[in-house]
Amino acid sequence: MQYGYFDDARKEYVITTESTPYPWINYLGTQDYFSLISNTGGGYSFYKDAKLRRITRFRYNNVPLDLGGGRYYYIYDDKDVWSPGFAPVKKKLDRYECRHGMGYTKITGSRNNIETEITFFVPIDFNGEVHKVVVKNMGDSDKNITLFSFVEWCLWNAQDDQTNFQRNFNTGEVEIEGATIYHKTEYKERRNHYAFFSVNAPVTGFDSDRESFLGTYNGFDNPEAVLEGKSRNSVADGWSPIASHSLDISLKPGETKELVFILGYVENALEDKWESKNVINKTKAHKMLEEFSTAEKADKALKRLTDYWDDLLSRYTLVSGEDKLNRMVNIWNQYQCMVTFNLSRSASYFESGIGRGMGFRDSNQDLLGFLHQIPDRARERIIDLASTQLEDGGAYHQYQPLTKRGNDEIGGNFNDDPLWLILAVVAYVKETGDYSILKVSTPFDNDESKAASLAEHLKRSFDHVINNLGPHRLPLIGRADWNDCLNLNCFSMEPGESFQTSTSKDGRVAESVMIAGMFVYIGKEYAELMKKSGSVEESIRAEKEISRMEKAVMEYGYDGEWFLRAYDDFGKKVGSKECEEGKIFIESQGLCIMGGLGLSDGKAIQALDAVEERLGTKYGLVLNNPAFTKYYVEYGEISTYPAGYKENAGIFCHNNAWIMCAEAVAGRGDKAFDYYTRIAPAYTEEYSEIHRMEPYVYSQMVAGKDAKRFGEAKNSWLTGTASWNFVAITQYILGIKPDYDGILVDPAIPKAWDTYQVTRRFRGDTYKITVKNPEHVSKGVKSLLVDGKEAASAVIPYAGDGKVHEVTVTMG
Ligand code: GLC
Ligand code: GLC
Repeated sequence: MQYGYFDDARKEYVITTESTPYPWINYLGTQDYFSLISNTGGGYSFYKDAKLRRITRFRYNNVPLDLGGGRYYYIYDDKDVWSPGFAPVKKKLDRYECRHGMGYTKITGSRNNIETEITFFVPIDFNGEVHKVVVKNMGDSDKNITLFSFVEWCLWNAQDDQTNFQRNFNTGEVEIEGATIYHKTEYKERRNHYAFFSVNAPVTGFDSDRESFLGTYNGFDNPEAVLEGKSRNSVADGWSPIASHSLDISLKPGETKELVFILGYVENALEDKWESKNVINKTKAHKMLEEFSTAEKADKALKRLTDYWDDLLSRYTLVSGEDKLNRMVNIWNQYQCMVTFNLSRSASYFESGIGRGMGFRDSNQDLLGFLHQIPDRARERIIDLASTQLEDGGAYHQYQPLTKRGNDEIGGNFNDDPLWLILAVVAYVKETGDYSILKVSTPFDNDESKAASLAEHLKRSFDHVINNLGPHRLPLIGRADWNDCLNLNCFSMEPGESFQTSTSKDGRVAESVMIAGMFVYIGKEYAELMKKSGSVEESIRAEKEISRMEKAVMEYGYDGEWFLRAYDDFGKKVGSKECEEGKIFIESQGLCIMGGLGLSDGKAIQALDAVEERLGTKYGLVLNNPAFTKYYVEYGEISTYPAGYKENAGIFCHNNAWIMCAEAVAGRGDKAFDYYTRIAPAYTEEYSEIHRMEPYVYSQMVAGKDAKRFGEAKNSWLTGTASWNFVAITQYILGIKPDYDGILVDPAIPKAWDTYQVTRRFRGDTYKITVKNPEHVSKGVKSLLVDGKEAASAVIPYAGDGKVHEVTVTMG
């Protein structure tokens, strides 16, 4: 069952019912000011940091979930009160529609011949949210209505705001000036920022004190002021400051009124804070209001925003015979990659925004998905990440975006972390040709006195693995590898103790075959980068280490039919046919084969067949099988999850992409694409009632076949799934891979496909690549014509002339 449809021409998902199976959200914002917005206007805004600079309030775990806060509008129409976005009043609408687009959301609701369309967006170069409201009389008699607006302020620190009531109920302060309500709590002393909510028309009334507006015993769904059709003109003094306007609107039949509401954020320098005693300096706010004083100005800004997205999305475009594939590649997957870049794992309807910093491995992998869109920001992100690296090559698992420092509380020793930095840098250099990044002097642990070149950082990353080998000469796992829940050194028996930060073993025994696979796969990339950048000796040294690792994996890491997952602290196999549960895991199959292991002797194919047989389901591949049904103290968090959820045999969509890549490497395009379609949102849309999450973005996890709620997704939006699936489809399946001296063409596609076209902007040139498959093969490039001339290899040489080049690839 579907709850809407894709409007590809507008790059929108159109939700046609307010009762989606879960709130379906979108993100507004491109630089510093961000908002989450659900299909009924729920959600919140923040400036840069979702914890420390929260602008509007949101209640987590609220009942109902999505009424925990939002930008709410009410219509008072002859005693009938309703909300054009359905929430919060939830009165039946004659028509409802929500269009989630690229950086904007448009919600339309109508009732009793009044239609209201509200477009929400955060303009480029603007620290605020614009709500363009269009009210129309659809009937044939005059209408006199009152429109109410509403937002609730958060007292800045979102965590403190939800806990420290004894202080916070006393501090709230506002200022009112015409139609603008300023929120200035704590501005008097140490803060240099305030927020405001305004509208570009004279108001009939306003409220800034929540209790006056709602009444002590009413909720957002029935504010007393709205029920009576009359604002209280309240001025908040402590308690909970809000901002609400009321505007009387008279409409003739067919008449339309347009209004622009602005929710803005301002910072003032210390010396510019005040206009006069206790009166805040509003100069910047006035300027922002002036920027959006008319609906035309708002329309222009929206156009600029859509142009911005059109440009970002134009760098890789696909025309194929599959609509669903086109919309994933051209629109939604790329959009999700950018949102994930902006937000990391901080703020979604599953991440509270007060928890995690930026993950080291997460951010390095996210980069693979947005790099081609904004290479400059990728460069900056790489240096930020490398600057938190430790001298021995290890990494803090997380760092804080505001301070850009490694987070001590979470610590390190996730032994896969360092390798992801190499992969990110390799991808960056291949995309841009910018070898100079390798020379950038980059601190260790943010200490400039310990700075070394980025190339040296990569060497330390590589060496961190070989300096930490276990009894089988396989990499020690540390706290965990990519699978945060495989905590082989933890042995925790203490309720509530964090598996991520506690260790009770010295960690010199438990080994990870997954890191071994990564080492081979990413190590080869490292060796090549060294060669390309002139460090031939380092490249040769790396190759030697890699072949040693290859031997160790084939000797100790292969279990007869598939790759083992690990050795535990007792030296016992994990992910082996000898195990009672968890006999096979997905991650090592993917990464070992991506590293080329087992390709020459049929072991890779054998392992991939075991993956399909044991991990395959119609909704995707589960992480391990059989699921753990009891607690294994020697395995850690993985066995705490009920069977079929999260890392315990859930369909963890991130690593499904590695199997797609592995199948592509093994030449099986049909399998690769089959796995792609099992989890790609556009393909899951038709069973949204089971899946429940947004059908336009990936979720981190779908309940696996052992779960009671098989097929149901959780943790939508912020996940490494976005970037890896983008890599899998664009580079491994469609086979358009940025390389050092050009674009490598190496498709692995379903045999049935006849043709497709990819337009790729690469280092300032544009390549229009037409792939033809007359013999219906999955893999193999027979000829490659660039501007009519036969190329020497399957690489489109980098032209560097800023022009458009026609490329024809014939498979066979
Ligand atoms: C989460 C984490 C990621 C980890 C994965 C598997 O997505 O953000 O770092 O690799 O879970 O445990
Ligand atoms: C839990 C989750 C895992 C996540 C980790 C770190 O272990 O299962 O997915 O990566 O927490 O937050």
